[in-house]
Amino acid sequence: MLLVTGVSGALGKLIAAGLAGRADAVLASRDPQYGERRIDFDDPASLDFTGVATLLLISAGYGEDDVVITRHGAVIDAAERDGVAHIVYTSLASAGDHLPYALPHRWTERRLRSGRAAWTVLRNGLYAELLAWLAAPDAEGRITAPLGGGKLAAVARRDLAEAACRVALDPAPHAGRVYDLVGEEAVGGAELAEALGAVYTPGTMAQARERVAASGAAPFQVPMLVGTYSAIAHGFMDGTAGDLRALLGRAPTGALDVIGGKAA
Ligand SMILES: NC(=O)c1ccc[n+]([C@@H]2O[C@H](COP(=O)([O-])OP(=O)(O)OC[C@H]3O[C@@H](n4cnc5c(N)ncnc54)[C@H](OP(=O)(O)O)[C@@H]3O)[C@@H](O)[C@H]2O)c1
Repeated sequence: MLLVTGVSGALGKLIAAGLAGRADAVLASRDPQYGERRIDFDDPASLDFTGVATLLLISAGYGEDDVVITRHGAVIDAAERDGVAHIVYTSLASAGDHLPYALPHRWTERRLRSGRAAWTVLRNGLYAELLAWLAAPDAEGRITAPLGGGKLAAVARRDLAEAACRVALDPAPHAGRVYDLVGEEAVGGAELAEALGAVYTPGTMAQARERVAASGAAPFQVPMLVGTYSAIAHGFMDGTAGDLRALLGRAPTGALDVIGGKAA
């Protein structure tokens, strides 16, 4: 049996849709509206993986590093205790090593490597949907996100969900593999502006930090978002070489098609 955590999230919902109708897949969430089984990484009593052969662990990255690491550690401990044979983990693209939220992902990868279960790491690139949000035009049609001349190899969430389903449904050939799942089209402020009929006038990182802090973001989220701008602006996130095409068996969806609403 395959169990998927986090199916109320945007990625989890797409994975759940990809597994619809399968008797051998169990959908789990903190939210009973979505999950057939309640799994909350913060509630040890809910971490029951009895009868689960494969666990698709969707990262729960919203929190300070110690919170996320405690969550992921608790899930993996419980999965090992209950005899889960293979854990598939949605991590962060290798290019994201400089991002402020890389550390808990890399910790989780290390924990899997030193654990008892077989594992597969899906190093997911940053979503095209996230870029659309990070660099959304303002009311005057200006994109002021501080992306400089940098670009992001943004990836469609839907493609990542499809890749995760493929691996999780037949994990054995993927044991011990780390896949970099980035888009094949690097997109920057100029391309976004053209696709959206906006004007690109990048602001500074200091301005972005003020804007994010004033938006009601939690304190830990401010460096996360500003660090994401910085990594893109300074050329760390534009590499398009990866494993997505091979896992999907087709060309990945274009990031601008997602952002411009042309992708299904
Ligand atoms: N690659 C990217 O661009 C990118 C962007 C943002 C985030 N991420 C990471 O990728 C994950 C999935 O992305 P998304 O777009 O689906 O995010 P999302 O829509 O914000 O969903 C949040 C996810 O976190 C899970 N979660 C939070 N706290 C949890 C807890 N205590 N126990 C179990 N699960 C918990 C939720 O599961 P429930 O169903 O149980 O609520 C849900 O799957 C995120 O959680 C984050 O770690 C990646």
